[in-house]
Amino acid sequence: MADSFNFTSHGKLWKLLLFLSVVCVFFLLMFDSQTIKPHKGPELRNVHNSNEGTEEVGGRTTTTKPTTGTKATGKEISTTKSTTLITTSTTPTPSEKVTEKTKCSPEHYVLFLKTHKAGSSTLANIFFRYGDSRDLSYVLGSDTLIGWPTRFRIGQALAFDGTRPNFLCSHTRFNKKAMNHLFPKDASKYVTIIRNPIKQFESAFTYMGIGRKFGFGGNSVESLKAFLRNGISFSDIRKSTLARNPQLFDLGLDFKFYQDAKAIKEYIEFLEKEFDLVLISDYFDESVVLMKRLLCWELDDVLYVKSNERLDKDKSPELSDDTKENIKRWNKADMLLYEHFNQTLWRRIETEGKDFFDDLTNFRRMKEELKTKCFSDKPSMQLIYGNKYAKGLTLRSDLPSDLKQKCGRMTRTENNYLAYLRNKRIEKLVGIHHAAPNEDDQEKVSWDAASDYKYVPVKPNF
Ligand SMILES: *[C@@H]1O[C@H](CO)[C@@H](O)[C@H](O)[C@H]1NC(C)=O
Repeated sequence: MADSFNFTSHGKLWKLLLFLSVVCVFFLLMFDSQTIKPHKGPELRNVHNSNEGTEEVGGRTTTTKPTTGTKATGKEISTTKSTTLITTSTTPTPSEKVTEKTKCSPEHYVLFLKTHKAGSSTLANIFFRYGDSRDLSYVLGSDTLIGWPTRFRIGQALAFDGTRPNFLCSHTRFNKKAMNHLFPKDASKYVTIIRNPIKQFESAFTYMGIGRKFGFGGNSVESLKAFLRNGISFSDIRKSTLARNPQLFDLGLDFKFYQDAKAIKEYIEFLEKEFDLVLISDYFDESVVLMKRLLCWELDDVLYVKSNERLDKDKSPELSDDTKENIKRWNKADMLLYEHFNQTLWRRIETEGKDFFDDLTNFRRMKEELKTKCFSDKPSMQLIYGNKYAKGLTLRSDLPSDLKQKCGRMTRTENNYLAYLRNKRIEKLVGIHHAAPNEDDQEKVSWDAASDYKYVPVKPNF
C-alpha cells in the first residue's frame, strides 16, 4: 500500500502542505528568536535581587550583544527598568567605543577553561585584572577549584550576583551543557590553553606528586621513569586523575576513550568547534596576541608577567630521550590534541597577516618596558598554597602609585585574587555591609564604667 502511494497524483496537495509547513517553521523561528533568547536558568533567577548588577550588564555590554543580556533579566525587572537598560546599552563607555580601525567591540563574556600546568595562572591573572577594573562578574567557587575533578555544574559555583557572569577562569572540568548555558555560544568566547605534553605531563606529575601516589617514590625523575615503565591500569587512574592525558582530562574526555583513535579524533574535532581559541603555552606571546585580537582588547589589557612558575631548585633535570618518548606514548591522546591545535594556531597567525607581527613586536617591547619599570632584579618566593612556593617578582620600592597598583596586580596570586573577588561579590549581594556598624566596639564596653547601680544588698551581712 505504502509502496504504491503515487506522489504525482497528490502533487498539488503536497506542494500546499509543504508551503504551509515552511510558513509555520518561519513563524516559529521568528517567535523563537524573540522569546527564547534569555539564557538565564533558574539558578540565576533566584538570586537575582539587585538593580545594581543588572544595570551593569546593560551599561557594560557592547551594542552587538546586550539585547540578549538585557532580555535575559527582563522577567525580573520592571518595564521601565528594561527600557533604561536598553538605552544605556546603546551608549558604551568611552573605553569600549568601537574603534574605527578594528571595527569590533571588546568581548566581555569569556569562558576560560583553565588546564593544569600549562601557563593558565598567568592567563587567569589577565582575566582577573581586566574584569576587576571594569567591575565585571565571575563564576566563582568556594576555593580555587569549581567542582574539579568532576565535570562543571552550575550548582557548584557560589551564588551569582544577578548579572550574567562575564568570566569563568577557575579550574574546572569541561562540561558542554552547563557551560553553554552560562556562556551562550553566540554571545561569548571560549578559550583554553594547552602545552607540549612532554613538559606538561612532567610538570603535572611532579606537582601533583603522582609518583608517590602510585608507590614509585618521591624523586621526580626516578619515579617518573618507574611509572612509565608499565604505566598504570585504567581503574587506577581515578586515584590521580591527571596521571594520563591530563590536558584532555581537563577538557572533558572520559578515561575510557584514552586508547580509542576514533573517539580521540572526534573529540578533538568537537573541541575545535567548542573553542574559539586554543592557546599554546609554548608560544605564549603569539597566543596572547591572537587572543587579544579575538577579544578585541588592547595590548595593554593582555600584558603579563609569568606566574606560578616553579622555583629553579624545583625545575626538573633534562629528561632522557626514552623518557620523553614514553611520555608521548603514554599520553598519546594529549599528543594528538597538541599537534592539532599547534597547527591551528600557526595557520591562524598566517591568516592574520603582517599586522599580527607588528602587534607582537609592540607587545614584547611593552612587556619588557613594564617589567624593568616595575620589578627589581631580586626574585622572591611566592607562597601558592599549603607549602608550595613559586617564583615571585619583587616590586620596586620607589614606584608612583598608579604603577604600583598596575604592577602589583600582575603579581597578585590566584588565591589572593579569588578571595578578593569573593569578598567583592558578597559586598555587592549584601549592600548593607557598607553601613554595618563596627561590631567590635561592643567588646570595648567596660563593666566597671559606672557604679550608679552598684549592687548593694538589703542586708549587708546576709
Ligand atoms: C608547532 O607548529 C610549528 C609550525 O608548524 C612547528 O614549527 C613547531 O615545531 C611546532 N611546535 C612543537 C613544539 O611541536
